[in-house]
Amino acid sequence: MGNTNKESWNKHASRFYQEDYLSLDAESESFDLVICMSAIGYADDFDKVCAEVNRVLKPNGRFVFNTTHPVIACVGATELWPEDNADPNYSYVGPMQWKWHEEDDFVFTTYRMKVNDYVNTLVKNQLYVKRMEELFPISPLPDDCDFDENEIAVRTRFPSILVIEAIKISG
Ligand SMILES: C[S@@+](CC[C@H](N)C(=O)[O-])C[C@H]1O[C@@H](n2cnc3c(N)ncnc32)[C@H](O)[C@@H]1O
Repeated sequence: MGNTNKESWNKHASRFYQEDYLSLDAESESFDLVICMSAIGYADDFDKVCAEVNRVLKPNGRFVFNTTHPVIACVGATELWPEDNADPNYSYVGPMQWKWHEEDDFVFTTYRMKVNDYVNTLVKNQLYVKRMEELFPISPLPDDCDFDENEIAVRTRFPSILVIEAIKISG
């Protein structure tokens, strides 16, 4: 899922597939692991993604993904990226449009959900949360980090990235 480098993954995995997560072209119960790095936020139907992941995973298979933390998506609306006019309420669920750079003439559309929406949708699809991490910036920040003081302060107070590992348990 996403455009992770296929060649480098194939060094470590016996079989690697990169696919549209809304419609995985793989046999049922054929994978031990599905990984989705920084791409799930583009899905307009997380329930459908989870149903597909459930279908292709073997019993006890794992689904690991990360996404923008719903808290920073909400706080960022007022504290970091007010120009995107995103909904500042944590309760907001739905699409948001944003620019990578203010001067860009195109927008991205990603979909906001709350943490409980992720967990409950996974569980609805028999994907049970095994571990969840809420990531903050590393310290010290790398030299090439381009956060200004305000962004460092906000990202120190609120988690930036949500990481979930879920396990498929049938029956
Ligand atoms: C922020 S990039 C992350 C790329 C890479 N996974 C990484 O971690 O560097 C978001 C990625 O989501 C992918 N994406 C968007 N919609 C997708 C879909 N329906 N199925 C699979 N990947 C999708 C895009 O192709 C894009 O590469």
